[in-house]
Amino acid sequence: LPHLTYQDDVLHIDGVSAQELRAQYGTPLYVYSQNALLDNYHAYVSAFSALKDVQVCYAVKANSNLAVLSALAKAGSGFDIVSVGELARVIKAGGDATKTVYSGVGKTAQDIKTALDAGIGCFNVEAVSELDLINDVAAALNKKARIALRINPDVDAKTHPYISTGMKDNKFGIAHDEAIAAYQHASTLAHLEIVGIDCHIGSQLTEVQPFVDALNKLIELIDTLANLGITLKHVDLGGGLGVRYIDENPASVREFADALLPKLQDLQARYGLGLHLEPGRNIAANAGVLLTSVDVLKPTAHKNFAIVDASMSELLRPALYESVMAIVPAKLDNNAPTKAWDVVGSVCESSDFLGKERLLSVAVGDLLAVTGAGAYGFSMASNYNSRQRPAEVMTANGTHRQIRARETLEDLWRGESV
Ligand code: LLP
Repeated sequence: LPHLTYQDDVLHIDGVSAQELRAQYGTPLYVYSQNALLDNYHAYVSAFSALKDVQVCYAVKANSNLAVLSALAKAGSGFDIVSVGELARVIKAGGDATKTVYSGVGKTAQDIKTALDAGIGCFNVEAVSELDLINDVAAALNKKARIALRINPDVDAKTHPYISTGMKDNKFGIAHDEAIAAYQHASTLAHLEIVGIDCHIGSQLTEVQPFVDALNKLIELIDTLANLGITLKHVDLGGGLGVRYIDENPASVREFADALLPKLQDLQARYGLGLHLEPGRNIAANAGVLLTSVDVLKPTAHKNFAIVDASMSELLRPALYESVMAIVPAKLDNNAPTKAWDVVGSVCESSDFLGKERLLSVAVGDLLAVTGAGAYGFSMASNYNSRQRPAEVMTANGTHRQIRARETLEDLWRGESV
Protein backbone atom coordinates (compact mmCIF):
# COMPACT_ATOMS: atom_id res chain seq x y z
CA LEU A 1 0.00 0.00 0.00
CA PRO A 2 2.24 2.79 -1.28
CA HIS A 3 0.26 5.60 0.37
CA LEU A 4 0.63 3.97 3.82
CA THR A 5 4.09 4.37 5.32
CA TYR A 6 5.78 4.41 8.70
CA GLN A 7 7.87 7.53 9.19
CA ASP A 8 9.86 7.50 12.44
CA ASP A 9 7.72 4.50 13.39
CA VAL A 10 4.48 6.48 13.08
CA LEU A 11 1.84 5.49 10.53
CA HIS A 12 1.31 8.09 7.79
CA ILE A 13 -1.39 8.24 5.14
CA ASP A 14 -0.29 10.18 2.07
CA GLY A 15 2.39 11.71 4.29
CA VAL A 16 -0.07 12.75 7.02
CA SER A 17 0.51 11.33 10.51
CA ALA A 18 -2.29 9.14 11.87
CA GLN A 19 -1.68 10.60 15.33
CA GLU A 20 -2.08 14.12 13.99
CA LEU A 21 -5.36 13.11 12.35
CA ARG A 22 -6.63 11.68 15.64
CA ALA A 23 -5.66 14.85 17.49
CA GLN A 24 -7.57 16.98 15.02
CA TYR A 25 -10.65 14.89 14.20
CA GLY A 26 -10.94 12.26 16.96
CA THR A 27 -11.72 8.57 16.52
CA PRO A 28 -13.20 6.43 15.16
CA LEU A 29 -12.19 8.07 11.91
CA TYR A 30 -12.23 6.99 8.29
CA VAL A 31 -9.29 8.34 6.28
CA TYR A 32 -9.07 8.02 2.50
CA SER A 33 -6.09 8.76 0.29
CA GLN A 34 -7.14 10.71 -2.76
CA ASN A 35 -3.87 9.77 -4.44
CA ALA A 36 -4.58 6.08 -3.94
CA LEU A 37 -8.16 6.41 -5.21
CA LEU A 38 -6.98 8.09 -8.38
CA ASP A 39 -4.06 5.68 -8.87
CA ASN A 40 -6.46 2.76 -8.56
CA TYR A 41 -8.85 4.33 -11.06
CA HIS A 42 -6.05 5.07 -13.53
CA ALA A 43 -4.78 1.48 -13.21
CA TYR A 44 -8.02 0.38 -14.91
CA VAL A 45 -7.82 3.02 -17.60
CA SER A 46 -4.27 2.14 -18.52
CA ALA A 47 -4.70 -1.64 -18.26
CA PHE A 48 -7.50 -1.49 -20.85
CA SER A 49 -6.00 1.23 -23.04
CA ALA A 50 -5.59 -1.20 -25.96
CA LEU A 51 -9.37 -1.01 -26.33
CA LYS A 52 -11.49 1.91 -27.56
CA ASP A 53 -14.64 3.07 -25.78
CA VAL A 54 -13.80 1.91 -22.27
CA GLN A 55 -15.97 3.37 -19.52
CA VAL A 56 -14.98 2.65 -15.92
CA CYS A 57 -18.18 2.99 -13.89
CA TYR A 58 -17.07 3.12 -10.25
CA ALA A 59 -19.55 1.20 -8.06
CA VAL A 60 -20.86 3.90 -5.76
CA LYS A 61 -21.95 1.45 -3.06
CA ALA A 62 -18.32 0.77 -2.14
CA ASN A 63 -17.81 4.31 -0.85
CA SER A 64 -20.32 6.98 -1.69
CA ASN A 65 -18.85 10.02 0.05
CA LEU A 66 -19.32 13.08 -2.19
CA ALA A 67 -15.60 13.89 -2.12
CA VAL A 68 -14.72 10.39 -3.29
CA LEU A 69 -17.27 10.60 -6.11
CA SER A 70 -16.12 14.09 -7.04
CA ALA A 71 -12.45 13.10 -7.26
CA LEU A 72 -13.33 10.16 -9.50
CA ALA A 73 -15.75 12.20 -11.64
CA LYS A 74 -13.03 14.79 -12.26
CA ALA A 75 -10.70 12.00 -13.35
CA GLY A 76 -13.31 10.96 -15.95
CA SER A 77 -14.97 8.07 -14.17
CA GLY A 78 -18.54 7.02 -14.78
CA PHE A 79 -20.60 5.35 -12.05
CA ASP A 80 -22.57 2.21 -11.30
CA ILE A 81 -25.56 2.92 -9.08
CA VAL A 82 -28.23 0.76 -7.48
CA SER A 83 -30.63 3.37 -6.12
CA VAL A 84 -31.88 6.87 -6.79
CA GLY A 85 -30.06 7.86 -3.60
CA GLU A 86 -26.78 6.87 -5.22
CA LEU A 87 -27.81 8.69 -8.40
CA ALA A 88 -28.49 11.84 -6.39
CA ARG A 89 -25.04 11.57 -4.82
CA VAL A 90 -23.40 11.19 -8.24
CA ILE A 91 -25.16 14.30 -9.53
CA LYS A 92 -24.47 16.26 -6.34
CA ALA A 93 -20.77 15.37 -6.65
CA GLY A 94 -20.65 16.64 -10.25
CA GLY A 95 -20.73 13.20 -11.88
CA ASP A 96 -22.12 12.65 -15.35
CA ALA A 97 -25.49 10.83 -15.41
CA THR A 98 -24.92 9.84 -19.04
CA LYS A 99 -21.82 7.91 -17.92
CA THR A 100 -23.83 6.21 -15.18
CA VAL A 101 -25.33 2.73 -15.34
CA TYR A 102 -28.22 1.74 -13.12
CA SER A 103 -28.13 -1.83 -11.76
CA GLY A 104 -30.39 -3.43 -9.16
CA VAL A 105 -33.19 -5.97 -8.94
CA GLY A 106 -36.08 -3.90 -7.64
CA LYS A 107 -36.42 -0.69 -9.64
CA THR A 108 -39.82 0.97 -9.29
CA ALA A 109 -41.61 3.15 -11.85
CA GLN A 110 -40.65 6.20 -9.79
CA ASP A 111 -36.97 5.14 -9.71
CA ILE A 112 -37.00 4.66 -13.47
CA LYS A 113 -38.61 8.05 -14.06
CA THR A 114 -36.04 9.77 -11.84
CA ALA A 115 -33.20 8.09 -13.71
CA LEU A 116 -34.65 8.92 -17.16
CA ASP A 117 -35.19 12.55 -16.14
CA ALA A 118 -31.53 12.69 -15.07
CA GLY A 119 -30.41 11.30 -18.45
CA ILE A 120 -29.10 7.96 -17.16
CA GLY A 121 -26.58 6.27 -19.47
CA CYS A 122 -28.02 2.78 -19.31
CA PHE A 123 -30.32 0.58 -17.26
CA ASN A 124 -28.83 -2.80 -16.41
CA VAL A 125 -32.10 -4.72 -16.53
CA GLU A 126 -32.46 -7.64 -14.15
CA ALA A 127 -35.88 -9.11 -15.06
CA VAL A 128 -38.11 -9.41 -18.13
CA SER A 129 -40.89 -7.51 -16.34
CA GLU A 130 -38.46 -4.63 -15.81
CA LEU A 131 -38.20 -4.25 -19.60
CA ASP A 132 -41.93 -3.60 -19.82
CA LEU A 133 -41.88 -1.24 -16.87
CA ILE A 134 -39.02 0.82 -18.29
CA ASN A 135 -40.73 0.90 -21.68
CA ASP A 136 -43.98 2.15 -20.12
CA VAL A 137 -42.27 4.85 -18.08
CA ALA A 138 -40.17 5.97 -21.06
CA ALA A 139 -43.30 6.07 -23.25
CA ALA A 140 -45.06 8.34 -20.76
CA LEU A 141 -42.04 10.68 -20.85
CA ASN A 142 -41.80 10.36 -24.62
CA LYS A 143 -38.21 9.16 -24.29
CA LYS A 144 -36.16 6.18 -25.32
CA ALA A 145 -34.40 4.32 -22.52
CA ARG A 146 -31.00 2.74 -23.17
CA ILE A 147 -30.87 -0.76 -21.75
CA ALA A 148 -28.51 -3.68 -21.26
CA LEU A 149 -29.62 -7.03 -19.91
CA ARG A 150 -27.80 -8.27 -16.86
CA ILE A 151 -27.17 -11.93 -17.54
CA ASN A 152 -26.71 -14.46 -14.79
CA PRO A 153 -24.04 -16.58 -16.48
CA ASP A 154 -24.12 -19.31 -13.82
CA VAL A 155 -20.40 -19.37 -13.09
CA ASP A 156 -18.85 -19.99 -9.69
CA ALA A 157 -17.06 -16.86 -8.55
CA LYS A 158 -15.35 -18.84 -5.75
CA THR A 159 -15.93 -16.14 -3.18
CA HIS A 160 -17.96 -15.85 0.02
CA PRO A 161 -21.56 -16.99 -0.65
CA TYR A 162 -22.98 -13.68 0.59
CA ILE A 163 -21.06 -11.76 -2.08
CA SER A 164 -21.41 -14.25 -4.93
CA THR A 165 -24.04 -13.10 -7.41
CA GLY A 166 -23.67 -14.97 -10.71
CA MET A 167 -24.92 -18.46 -9.88
CA LYS A 168 -28.33 -19.98 -10.62
CA ASP A 169 -29.35 -19.70 -6.98
CA ASN A 170 -28.78 -15.93 -6.84
CA LYS A 171 -31.56 -13.39 -7.28
CA PHE A 172 -29.53 -11.30 -9.73
CA GLY A 173 -29.88 -10.99 -13.48
CA ILE A 174 -31.67 -12.90 -16.21
CA ALA A 175 -30.81 -16.59 -16.67
CA HIS A 176 -28.48 -17.30 -19.58
CA ASP A 177 -31.10 -19.65 -21.09
CA GLU A 178 -33.77 -16.95 -21.07
CA ALA A 179 -31.59 -14.14 -22.36
CA ILE A 180 -32.24 -14.44 -26.08
CA ALA A 181 -36.01 -14.45 -25.63
CA ALA A 182 -35.69 -11.43 -23.34
CA TYR A 183 -33.67 -9.52 -25.96
CA GLN A 184 -36.20 -10.43 -28.63
CA HIS A 185 -38.95 -9.13 -26.40
CA ALA A 186 -36.98 -5.93 -25.73
CA SER A 187 -36.54 -5.40 -29.47
CA THR A 188 -40.35 -5.18 -29.84
CA LEU A 189 -40.66 -2.38 -27.27
CA ALA A 190 -40.65 1.00 -28.99
CA HIS A 191 -39.27 3.06 -26.11
CA LEU A 192 -36.21 0.94 -25.47
CA GLU A 193 -32.86 1.20 -27.20
CA ILE A 194 -30.87 -1.99 -26.70
CA VAL A 195 -27.26 -0.95 -26.14
CA GLY A 196 -25.50 -3.63 -24.16
CA ILE A 197 -25.08 -6.87 -22.31
CA ASP A 198 -23.98 -7.02 -18.69
CA CYS A 199 -22.99 -9.36 -15.92
CA HIS A 200 -21.60 -9.05 -12.41
CA ILE A 201 -20.69 -12.40 -10.91
CA GLY A 202 -19.59 -11.48 -7.42
CA SER A 203 -17.19 -9.55 -5.30
CA GLN A 204 -13.69 -10.09 -3.87
CA LEU A 205 -12.74 -12.53 -6.64
CA THR A 206 -9.07 -13.38 -6.54
CA GLU A 207 -8.83 -15.40 -9.76
CA VAL A 208 -9.40 -14.25 -13.33
CA GLN A 209 -10.86 -17.52 -14.62
CA PRO A 210 -14.46 -16.87 -13.46
CA PHE A 211 -14.39 -13.54 -15.33
CA VAL A 212 -13.14 -15.30 -18.46
CA ASP A 213 -15.85 -17.96 -18.08
CA ALA A 214 -18.50 -15.26 -17.72
CA LEU A 215 -17.22 -13.37 -20.76
CA ASN A 216 -17.33 -16.57 -22.79
CA LYS A 217 -20.96 -17.04 -21.80
CA LEU A 218 -21.72 -13.50 -22.90
CA ILE A 219 -19.91 -13.97 -26.21
CA GLU A 220 -22.17 -16.95 -27.05
CA LEU A 221 -25.14 -14.67 -26.53
CA ILE A 222 -23.61 -11.74 -28.45
CA ASP A 223 -23.02 -14.01 -31.46
CA THR A 224 -26.55 -15.38 -31.34
CA LEU A 225 -27.98 -11.89 -31.03
CA ALA A 226 -25.93 -10.69 -34.01
CA ASN A 227 -27.39 -13.51 -36.10
CA LEU A 228 -30.84 -12.34 -35.09
CA GLY A 229 -29.99 -8.79 -36.12
CA ILE A 230 -29.79 -7.45 -32.56
CA THR A 231 -26.62 -5.38 -32.31
CA LEU A 232 -25.06 -3.97 -29.17
CA LYS A 233 -22.71 -1.11 -28.35
CA HIS A 234 -21.03 -2.38 -25.21
CA VAL A 235 -20.34 -5.33 -22.99
CA ASP A 236 -20.28 -4.67 -19.23
CA LEU A 237 -18.31 -7.11 -17.09
CA GLY A 238 -19.38 -5.64 -13.75
CA GLY A 239 -17.00 -5.29 -10.83
CA GLY A 240 -15.63 -7.87 -8.47
CA LEU A 241 -11.86 -7.97 -8.71
CA GLY A 242 -10.58 -8.54 -5.18
CA VAL A 243 -7.93 -6.91 -3.05
CA ARG A 244 -5.44 -8.13 -0.48
CA TYR A 245 -6.80 -7.66 3.02
CA ILE A 246 -4.35 -9.89 4.81
CA ASP A 247 -2.77 -12.71 2.81
CA GLU A 248 -4.92 -13.03 -0.32
CA ASN A 249 -3.15 -12.95 -3.65
CA PRO A 250 -5.69 -11.43 -6.00
CA ALA A 251 -4.91 -11.00 -9.67
CA SER A 252 -3.71 -7.47 -10.43
CA VAL A 253 -5.75 -5.18 -12.63
CA ARG A 254 -3.12 -5.73 -15.32
CA GLU A 255 -3.48 -9.53 -15.10
CA PHE A 256 -7.26 -9.15 -15.12
CA ALA A 257 -7.06 -7.01 -18.26
CA ASP A 258 -4.55 -9.28 -19.98
CA ALA A 259 -6.81 -12.30 -19.45
CA LEU A 260 -9.79 -10.53 -21.02
CA LEU A 261 -8.28 -8.27 -23.66
CA PRO A 262 -7.84 -10.78 -26.53
CA LYS A 263 -11.54 -11.67 -26.44
CA LEU A 264 -12.61 -8.06 -25.95
CA GLN A 265 -10.44 -6.90 -28.86
CA ASP A 266 -11.98 -9.60 -31.01
CA LEU A 267 -15.49 -8.40 -30.04
CA GLN A 268 -14.46 -4.85 -30.84
CA ALA A 269 -13.11 -5.89 -34.24
CA ARG A 270 -16.19 -7.95 -35.11
CA TYR A 271 -18.99 -5.85 -33.66
CA GLY A 272 -17.44 -2.53 -32.61
CA LEU A 273 -18.29 -3.24 -28.97
CA GLY A 274 -17.01 -0.94 -26.23
CA LEU A 275 -16.41 -2.02 -22.64
CA HIS A 276 -17.95 -1.02 -19.34
CA LEU A 277 -16.50 -2.08 -15.99
CA GLU A 278 -17.97 -1.52 -12.53
CA PRO A 279 -15.14 -1.82 -10.01
CA GLY A 280 -15.87 -0.70 -6.47
CA ARG A 281 -13.67 -2.43 -3.92
CA ASN A 282 -10.62 -2.45 -6.15
CA ILE A 283 -10.66 1.33 -6.38
CA ALA A 284 -11.64 2.23 -2.84
CA ALA A 285 -10.65 -0.51 -0.36
CA ASN A 286 -6.95 0.01 -0.15
CA ALA A 287 -7.31 3.77 -0.34
CA GLY A 288 -8.84 3.85 3.15
CA VAL A 289 -8.12 3.08 6.78
CA LEU A 290 -10.30 3.17 9.86
CA LEU A 291 -8.49 4.74 12.80
CA THR A 292 -9.65 3.58 16.21
CA SER A 293 -8.46 4.11 19.77
CA VAL A 294 -8.12 1.46 22.46
CA ASP A 295 -10.55 2.28 25.28
CA VAL A 296 -10.38 -0.76 27.59
CA LEU A 297 -8.17 -3.82 27.91
CA LYS A 298 -9.71 -6.96 29.31
CA PRO A 299 -7.21 -9.79 29.55
CA THR A 300 -8.88 -12.97 30.84
CA ALA A 301 -7.61 -16.45 31.58
CA HIS A 302 -9.12 -17.62 28.34
CA LYS A 303 -8.89 -14.68 25.94
CA ASN A 304 -7.64 -11.12 25.77
CA PHE A 305 -10.04 -8.44 24.63
CA ALA A 306 -8.93 -5.04 23.39
CA ILE A 307 -12.08 -2.91 23.33
CA VAL A 308 -11.79 -0.11 20.81
CA ASP A 309 -14.00 2.83 19.88
CA ALA A 310 -14.89 1.41 16.46
CA SER A 311 -17.33 -1.48 16.19
CA MET A 312 -19.59 -3.36 13.81
CA SER A 313 -21.63 -0.17 13.57
CA GLU A 314 -18.72 1.56 11.84
CA LEU A 315 -17.22 -1.49 10.08
CA LEU A 316 -19.59 -4.39 9.51
CA ARG A 317 -17.50 -6.61 7.27
CA PRO A 318 -15.88 -8.79 9.97
CA ALA A 319 -19.25 -9.38 11.69
CA LEU A 320 -21.21 -9.98 8.49
CA TYR A 321 -18.78 -12.00 6.39
CA GLU A 322 -16.19 -13.03 8.97
CA SER A 323 -13.80 -11.13 6.76
CA VAL A 324 -10.28 -10.79 8.05
CA MET A 325 -8.92 -7.26 7.77
CA ALA A 326 -5.45 -6.23 8.87
CA ILE A 327 -5.13 -4.19 12.07
CA VAL A 328 -1.87 -2.31 12.52
CA PRO A 329 -0.56 -0.02 15.25
CA ALA A 330 -0.22 3.68 14.53
CA LYS A 331 3.06 3.61 16.46
CA LEU A 332 5.49 0.78 15.81
CA ASP A 333 7.50 -0.61 18.68
CA ASN A 334 9.31 -3.70 17.52
CA ASN A 335 10.72 -4.42 20.98
CA ALA A 336 7.39 -4.41 22.81
CA PRO A 337 6.07 -7.86 23.80
CA THR A 338 2.98 -8.92 21.86
CA LYS A 339 -0.04 -10.99 22.89
CA ALA A 340 -3.01 -12.35 21.00
CA TRP A 341 -5.91 -9.91 21.31
CA ASP A 342 -9.47 -10.00 20.07
CA VAL A 343 -10.03 -6.45 18.87
CA VAL A 344 -13.70 -5.79 19.58
CA GLY A 345 -16.17 -2.92 19.73
CA SER A 346 -18.59 -2.10 22.48
CA VAL A 347 -21.80 -2.99 20.65
CA CYS A 348 -23.98 -5.53 22.43
CA GLU A 349 -23.47 -8.39 20.00
CA SER A 350 -21.00 -11.25 20.18
CA SER A 351 -20.38 -10.84 16.46
CA ASP A 352 -19.06 -7.35 17.17
CA PHE A 353 -15.40 -7.85 16.44
CA LEU A 354 -12.92 -6.19 14.10
CA GLY A 355 -10.29 -8.89 14.38
CA LYS A 356 -9.64 -12.06 16.35
CA GLU A 357 -6.42 -13.41 17.88
CA ARG A 358 -4.29 -10.55 16.58
CA LEU A 359 -0.71 -10.41 17.78
CA LEU A 360 -0.37 -6.87 19.05
CA SER A 361 1.26 -4.88 21.76
CA VAL A 362 -1.48 -2.56 22.99
CA ALA A 363 -2.11 -0.19 25.88
CA VAL A 364 -5.16 1.87 26.72
CA GLY A 365 -5.13 5.00 24.58
CA ASP A 366 -3.18 3.44 21.73
CA LEU A 367 -4.21 4.17 18.19
CA LEU A 368 -4.84 1.32 15.74
CA ALA A 369 -5.65 1.33 12.03
CA VAL A 370 -7.81 -1.19 10.18
CA THR A 371 -6.49 -1.20 6.64
CA GLY A 372 -8.48 -1.94 3.49
CA ALA A 373 -11.41 -0.08 5.02
CA GLY A 374 -12.02 2.37 2.16
CA ALA A 375 -14.64 0.12 0.52
CA TYR A 376 -17.81 -1.18 2.20
CA GLY A 377 -16.72 0.53 5.40
CA PHE A 378 -18.53 3.80 5.99
CA SER A 379 -21.06 2.92 3.28
CA MET A 380 -22.26 -0.01 5.40
CA ALA A 381 -22.08 1.85 8.71
CA SER A 382 -25.21 2.12 10.80
CA ASN A 383 -26.44 3.84 13.93
CA TYR A 384 -27.02 0.56 15.76
CA ASN A 385 -26.82 1.00 19.53
CA SER A 386 -27.44 4.70 18.81
CA ARG A 387 -23.84 5.22 17.91
CA GLN A 388 -22.93 8.34 15.96
CA ARG A 389 -21.45 7.55 12.58
CA PRO A 390 -17.81 8.63 12.39
CA ALA A 391 -16.14 11.50 10.58
CA GLU A 392 -14.39 11.00 7.25
CA VAL A 393 -11.21 12.72 6.10
CA MET A 394 -9.50 12.89 2.72
CA THR A 395 -5.73 13.19 2.46
CA ALA A 396 -3.97 14.40 -0.66
CA ASN A 397 -0.24 15.00 -1.05
CA GLY A 398 0.42 15.70 2.61
CA THR A 399 -2.75 17.73 3.19
CA HIS A 400 -5.99 16.65 4.86
CA ARG A 401 -9.55 17.88 5.00
CA GLN A 402 -12.75 16.68 6.63
CA ILE A 403 -15.22 15.37 4.06
CA ARG A 404 -17.94 14.36 6.50
CA ALA A 405 -18.54 15.59 10.01
CA ARG A 406 -18.93 13.16 12.87
CA GLU A 407 -22.63 12.78 13.63
CA THR A 408 -24.01 14.72 16.55
CA LEU A 409 -26.53 13.44 19.09
CA GLU A 410 -29.24 15.47 17.34
CA ASP A 411 -28.43 13.64 14.10
CA LEU A 412 -29.48 10.44 15.84
CA TRP A 413 -33.13 11.42 16.09
CA ARG A 414 -33.48 13.66 13.07
CA GLY A 415 -36.99 13.17 11.67
CA GLU A 416 -38.28 11.45 14.80
CA SER A 417 -40.91 12.83 17.15
CA VAL A 418 -41.95 11.92 20.66
N1 LLP B 1 -21.64 -3.94 -9.94
C1 LLP B 1 -22.69 -4.51 -9.32
C2 LLP B 1 -23.93 -4.74 -10.07
C3 LLP B 1 -22.57 -4.89 -7.97
O1 LLP B 1 -23.60 -5.48 -7.36
C4 LLP B 1 -21.36 -4.67 -7.28
C5 LLP B 1 -21.20 -5.05 -5.87
C6 LLP B 1 -20.31 -4.04 -7.96
C7 LLP B 1 -20.48 -3.70 -9.30
C8 LLP B 1 -18.99 -3.73 -7.32
O2 LLP B 1 -18.32 -4.89 -6.91
P1 LLP B 1 -16.83 -4.77 -6.36
O3 LLP B 1 -15.96 -4.35 -7.50
O4 LLP B 1 -16.81 -3.80 -5.27
O5 LLP B 1 -16.51 -6.15 -5.90
N2 LLP B 1 -20.47 -5.56 1.04
C9 LLP B 1 -19.66 -6.61 0.47
C10 LLP B 1 -19.54 -6.46 -1.04
C11 LLP B 1 -20.87 -6.45 -1.74
C12 LLP B 1 -20.77 -6.20 -3.21
C13 LLP B 1 -22.11 -6.02 -3.83
N3 LLP B 1 -22.09 -5.69 -5.23
C14 LLP B 1 -18.32 -6.63 1.16
O6 LLP B 1 -18.07 -5.78 2.00
O7 LLP B 1 -17.49 -7.51 0.88
